[in-house]
Amino acid sequence: MPDTPQSDAIVLFGATGDLSRRMLLPSLFFLDVDGFLPPGVRIVGTARGELTREAFVETVRRVLDERAEEIDEAAWTRFAARLDYVGADATTPEGAALLKPALEGAERPLFFLAISPSLYGRVCEALHTAGVAGEGSRIVLEKPIGRDLGTSREINAALSDIFDESQIFRIDHYLGKETVQNLIALRFANTLFEPLWNSLSIDHVQITVAETEGVGARWPYYDEYGALRDMLQNHMLQLLCLVAMEPPADMEPDSVRNEKVKVLRSLRPFTRADAADKSVRGQYGAGVVAGREAAAYEAERGQKSGVETFVALRVDIDNWRWAGVPFFLRTGKRMPEKRTQIVVQFKPVPHSIFGQASTHDLVANRLVIDLQPDEDINLTLMNKAPGLTKGGMRLQSMPLSLSLLRTYEGPGARRRIAYERLLLDVIHGDATLFVRRDEVEAAWAWVDGVADAWAEAGLQPRPYAAGSWGPPGAFALIERFGRDWRD
Ligand code: BG6
Repeated sequence: MPDTPQSDAIVLFGATGDLSRRMLLPSLFFLDVDGFLPPGVRIVGTARGELTREAFVETVRRVLDERAEEIDEAAWTRFAARLDYVGADATTPEGAALLKPALEGAERPLFFLAISPSLYGRVCEALHTAGVAGEGSRIVLEKPIGRDLGTSREINAALSDIFDESQIFRIDHYLGKETVQNLIALRFANTLFEPLWNSLSIDHVQITVAETEGVGARWPYYDEYGALRDMLQNHMLQLLCLVAMEPPADMEPDSVRNEKVKVLRSLRPFTRADAADKSVRGQYGAGVVAGREAAAYEAERGQKSGVETFVALRVDIDNWRWAGVPFFLRTGKRMPEKRTQIVVQFKPVPHSIFGQASTHDLVANRLVIDLQPDEDINLTLMNKAPGLTKGGMRLQSMPLSLSLLRTYEGPGARRRIAYERLLLDVIHGDATLFVRRDEVEAAWAWVDGVADAWAEAGLQPRPYAAGSWGPPGAFALIERFGRDWRD
């Protein structure tokens, strides 16, 4: 952890909203249970609605109970004592000023904006004008930071008028996931992979983020964004960066983020011709997911829509390390299973010394990194099948597994919410796992190119049945380049 002062109060904007209830309040509670919340840190929930402190505390307790985990009553009493609530419209300086009494004595408050990005600029300005936020404050923002490069720049510019970049923490919750951080350890805490981690040994990389959930009631947001802007611009490009970046000099925030920006700037721009050749858009129709009937996106939306709920792309990185190595990315809603996975496919052996029959069994090495639902890292290696055979040896492919399930074994062990890691880091001022302004803007610049190419080529989403792996074109896409999705 860097040697920066700890935050001494946490203000949650949108404290009664979905993100706070599902992720932020439980994460703060679990941090407190494990002794990670500095003593004396207050947690002030705020939202427009009037609510007494007692009613807010009750809501938080209900949220924790709903997670069906046993609550340690002593820990709860300690946590509840930290909680406060202020009903305020924080988009105005008068509203923001209402937070003052709850923050009395706090010199380094952390403001978590779990609210619509369209309000970021106004809330920051109001906090500043009211004298609630100052030099010691930290501000945490959720995605989406804009809908394209232009709107993202507007938000960033509004924030930078008030806060220094070192005070701004842009969250991509994928960076808080255990296996995502493990990817950094795997690559840079071992000598094994680095000499092979390039176009000489790697044939291609696949990144899949599949969800069984549909869009449902979130359509008013989603219909403006689609899978490209909702998932690919942020989570998937972040995963790609961590796979593709050069070794940073150290784990200082800017060392890591400098390397990620270089990857983003090396992404080959999409052209109109690439739209049909290297990308597929899809939108789910009705179908069956995990044995349950699922409605079509347009039924949820209530009318026809041109937004994609599935996207598959071939991405090229134009630099020395990755020249000629395609990265295939796909993400979709209403897929047959929840799966977040990175597959690093190595090249086959250059020459087989085994007889024809055995050569047939030869499978190229593959590193499979599972992020969800299981956290697992598997390296498939060839070995000799046990036993005697006539005329040569039989080969078989076997996984070498680094199952992270063990991490969660034992009494009291549990899988952490990604936000726990991220909140702890903001409290300590460590920005390594947060996205810097130039990173967000470089990602948008590339994604805008894809959206423009689609618009120019008139590429419309193709239908796919809920519960399938996307439109047939997604298979044709990867096959066109001589590879297959690992399903
Ligand atoms: C969010 C997207 O950022 O990530 C959602 O807006 C998506 O559409 C979610 O469902 C997926 O997160 P996770 O952690 O469940 O993979």
